[in-house]
Amino acid sequence: MNNAEQGSMGLIRPVSIIGTGSYLPERILTNAEIEKMVDTTDEWIVTRSGIRERRIAREDQATSDLAAEAGRQALEAAGVAPEEVDQIIVGTITQDMGFPSTACFVQNLLKARNAHCFDLAAACSGFVYALEVGRQFVATGAVRTSLVIGAEKLSVVTDWTDRTTCVLFGDGAGAAVLRSVEGQRGILGTVMGSDGSLADLLGIPGGGSRHPASTKTLEDRMHYMKMTGKEVFKHAVRTMSDATLQVLKKCDLTFDDIKMVIPHQANIRIIQAIGDRLGLPVDKVFINVEKYGNMSSATVPVALDQAIRSGRVKPGDRVVLVAFGGGFTWGAMVLEI
Ligand SMILES: CC(C)(COP(=O)(O)OP(=O)(O)OC[C@H]1O[C@@H](n2cnc3c(N)ncnc32)[C@H](O)[C@@H]1OP(=O)(O)O)[C@@H](O)C(=O)NCCC(=O)NCCS
Repeated sequence: MNNAEQGSMGLIRPVSIIGTGSYLPERILTNAEIEKMVDTTDEWIVTRSGIRERRIAREDQATSDLAAEAGRQALEAAGVAPEEVDQIIVGTITQDMGFPSTACFVQNLLKARNAHCFDLAAACSGFVYALEVGRQFVATGAVRTSLVIGAEKLSVVTDWTDRTTCVLFGDGAGAAVLRSVEGQRGILGTVMGSDGSLADLLGIPGGGSRHPASTKTLEDRMHYMKMTGKEVFKHAVRTMSDATLQVLKKCDLTFDDIKMVIPHQANIRIIQAIGDRLGLPVDKVFINVEKYGNMSSATVPVALDQAIRSGRVKPGDRVVLVAFGGGFTWGAMVLEI
């Protein structure tokens, strides 16, 4: 059963995104600057990843600061006051601190005093996972308004001496406000999956309960992201393509019914390979990876916000959001704007 069918049963309400927002730090780090930091070239980075520049947050900005900016913009777009927010979910792997949750800091920044708040850890799939969790709360009537945010300050977990990873990532945040709106179908269907047997291929090994912070973990640079790039690449292409087909099938739709696919922005070659596999024309796939790099859970909501604000998708259009990340985790969603 897809989400729209659940909605039509009357027990579960349809849930729409009624406003989006995004925040990108001002500081632009170009490939030319990275050429001075590690043994790489602009040409290598552009050919292998499509990335030309990325944003880097200020030292005094934590993930919650980026998240709150995006959240504020989404609330404005939705015409919702902070005190009307019942729930804040932040998808992130760069939380402000071990605890409290980043969502609690966001609550304080937004003065959304009536919200309950929690973080969700699903790496680059964090926003799609969080949207589905928020949808379920709104669909059942447990909350009226959910603010869902994907936010990352990846620059602090990037090893700036490792050329195989440091060229790929950036900072940013995106947000969406969820509500049930009379006469709108909103989120039509979702698929989610995980494969914990491949957890070692992508992650931050140090600083948690497995390898608590110590002089040794610091020396071994275990607090930075580690990635087996080639393996991740293969899985990302296959899994995001399959998840897109699965969610369309679940909703009984074809690509003819879809205005745009908005995939996780990790690498232009991953996005192009997915487009090729699915036989999608170039203009049906949203791409902004050249400007921001991989912002993990922030990539999908930033792309969605830009697609809406630029008019590339309009009210009534159907889009597919699809993401893949460490865990592995993946998720795909069809929604009517
Ligand atoms: C990381 C990635 C761009 C590397 O591209 P690739 O084509 O697989 O390149 P390889 O890893 O095979 O490296 C090729 C060579 O370039 C070198 N290289 C790696 N990074 C480099 C850099 N920044 N500059 C120059 N050379 C580099 C490697 O050392 C290797 O050299 P060798 O052949 O002498 O060993 C690619 O694997 C990728 O994008 N993976 C997925 C990353 C991702 O999206 N992760 C998040 C998903 S949510």
